Amino acid sequence: MNMDTRLLDEKNEQDIKEAGKILRRGGLVAIPTETVYGLAGNALDPTVSAQIYKVKGRPSDNPLIVHIADIKELPALVEEIPEAAKKLAAAFWPGPLTIIMKKTPLVPMQTTGGLDTVAVRMPSDPTARAIINAAGVPLAAPSANLSGLPSPTSFPHVCDDLMGRVDGIVNGGDCEVGVESTVVAVTGEHPMLLRPGYVTKEQMEAVLGEEVLVSPAILEKLKDGEVARSPGMKYKHYAPKAQVTILRGDFAKYKEFIKQHTEPGVWALCFDGEGAQLGVPFIEYGKNHDGVTQAHHLFTALRDLDKHGAQVVYARCPEQDGVSMAVYNRLIRAAAFRVVEL
Ligand code: TXA
Ligand code: MG
Repeated sequence: MNMDTRLLDEKNEQDIKEAGKILRRGGLVAIPTETVYGLAGNALDPTVSAQIYKVKGRPSDNPLIVHIADIKELPALVEEIPEAAKKLAAAFWPGPLTIIMKKTPLVPMQTTGGLDTVAVRMPSDPTARAIINAAGVPLAAPSANLSGLPSPTSFPHVCDDLMGRVDGIVNGGDCEVGVESTVVAVTGEHPMLLRPGYVTKEQMEAVLGEEVLVSPAILEKLKDGEVARSPGMKYKHYAPKAQVTILRGDFAKYKEFIKQHTEPGVWALCFDGEGAQLGVPFIEYGKNHDGVTQAHHLFTALRDLDKHGAQVVYARCPEQDGVSMAVYNRLIRAAAFRVVEL
């Protein structure tokens, strides 16, 4: 693919209108959101969804998220809005939460990867919202990376992946959150977390007054024959070129381990303030015990490791609750589920 890609700027009102125009006539535009950049197109046009899969190189059974700017757009997309969805939307929309509900025939099967449910999210990022409004249609938007690479959290990341493959890219600077939205299904008897994100299981439980189940695919590798409720979770995702291994244990043990593994090509992916003590090249990806800063830096760190030509990466292990659950979930995929207990 080698097409002209318009570079647009969120600060220019004309550019936002232009992005809307391109989307309305069936084009693809990469747009910033508060989580990661999205590869956006008209969610209601099956040929556009097919084009999104093609550009990303993504398997077409992995459904897309439909983005809206106003709650008024929701009833046309879903058969019913369950009580739990009402509570979650009231508490967390606009924001980094995606809710799975039964879809109406208006949403094409191409957009939902053949499922009878649709994932809906109302982003809080003002640019994302302005572009949805300018387009005048709900936007299907998976993360704007090529399939298998970390989700893009800055304008240069998107340009690296999609230049020449889409009609436009909107520069919105760095994404605030840094990992993709929380995905929760409210179609079953109990709400179920399908992908952890910035909105945490604990926060949703407080709003719903009931337990949110955690899909087994989130923190462990699926066993043979097990079916992922969220198709995206079955793929090895966010795969850097380097071989990443997570080392679970405290910093003293981590440091000890690294001291015995100082071969060329070895890099440390550690927490702020730790790298200089290690004796190997390193990237720090946020504060220890702080999922929010780790989420913000993780994908940039993974991309940078590849740029530096890291071959073997030993990563510090995030916690597994709160926002850290999202960080752990992304990192174990980057590590192809290699976790070593120190
Ligand atoms: O933060 C985000 O959600 C970003 C920005 C651009 O909004 N988008 C994003 O989209 O991460 P994507 O396509 O990379 O991830 C969508 C996830 C996948 O894991 C997919 O399997 C799941 O949501 N999903 C979508 N529709 C679903 C459905 N109907 N049932 C179950 N899982 C679904
Ligand atoms: Mg993605």
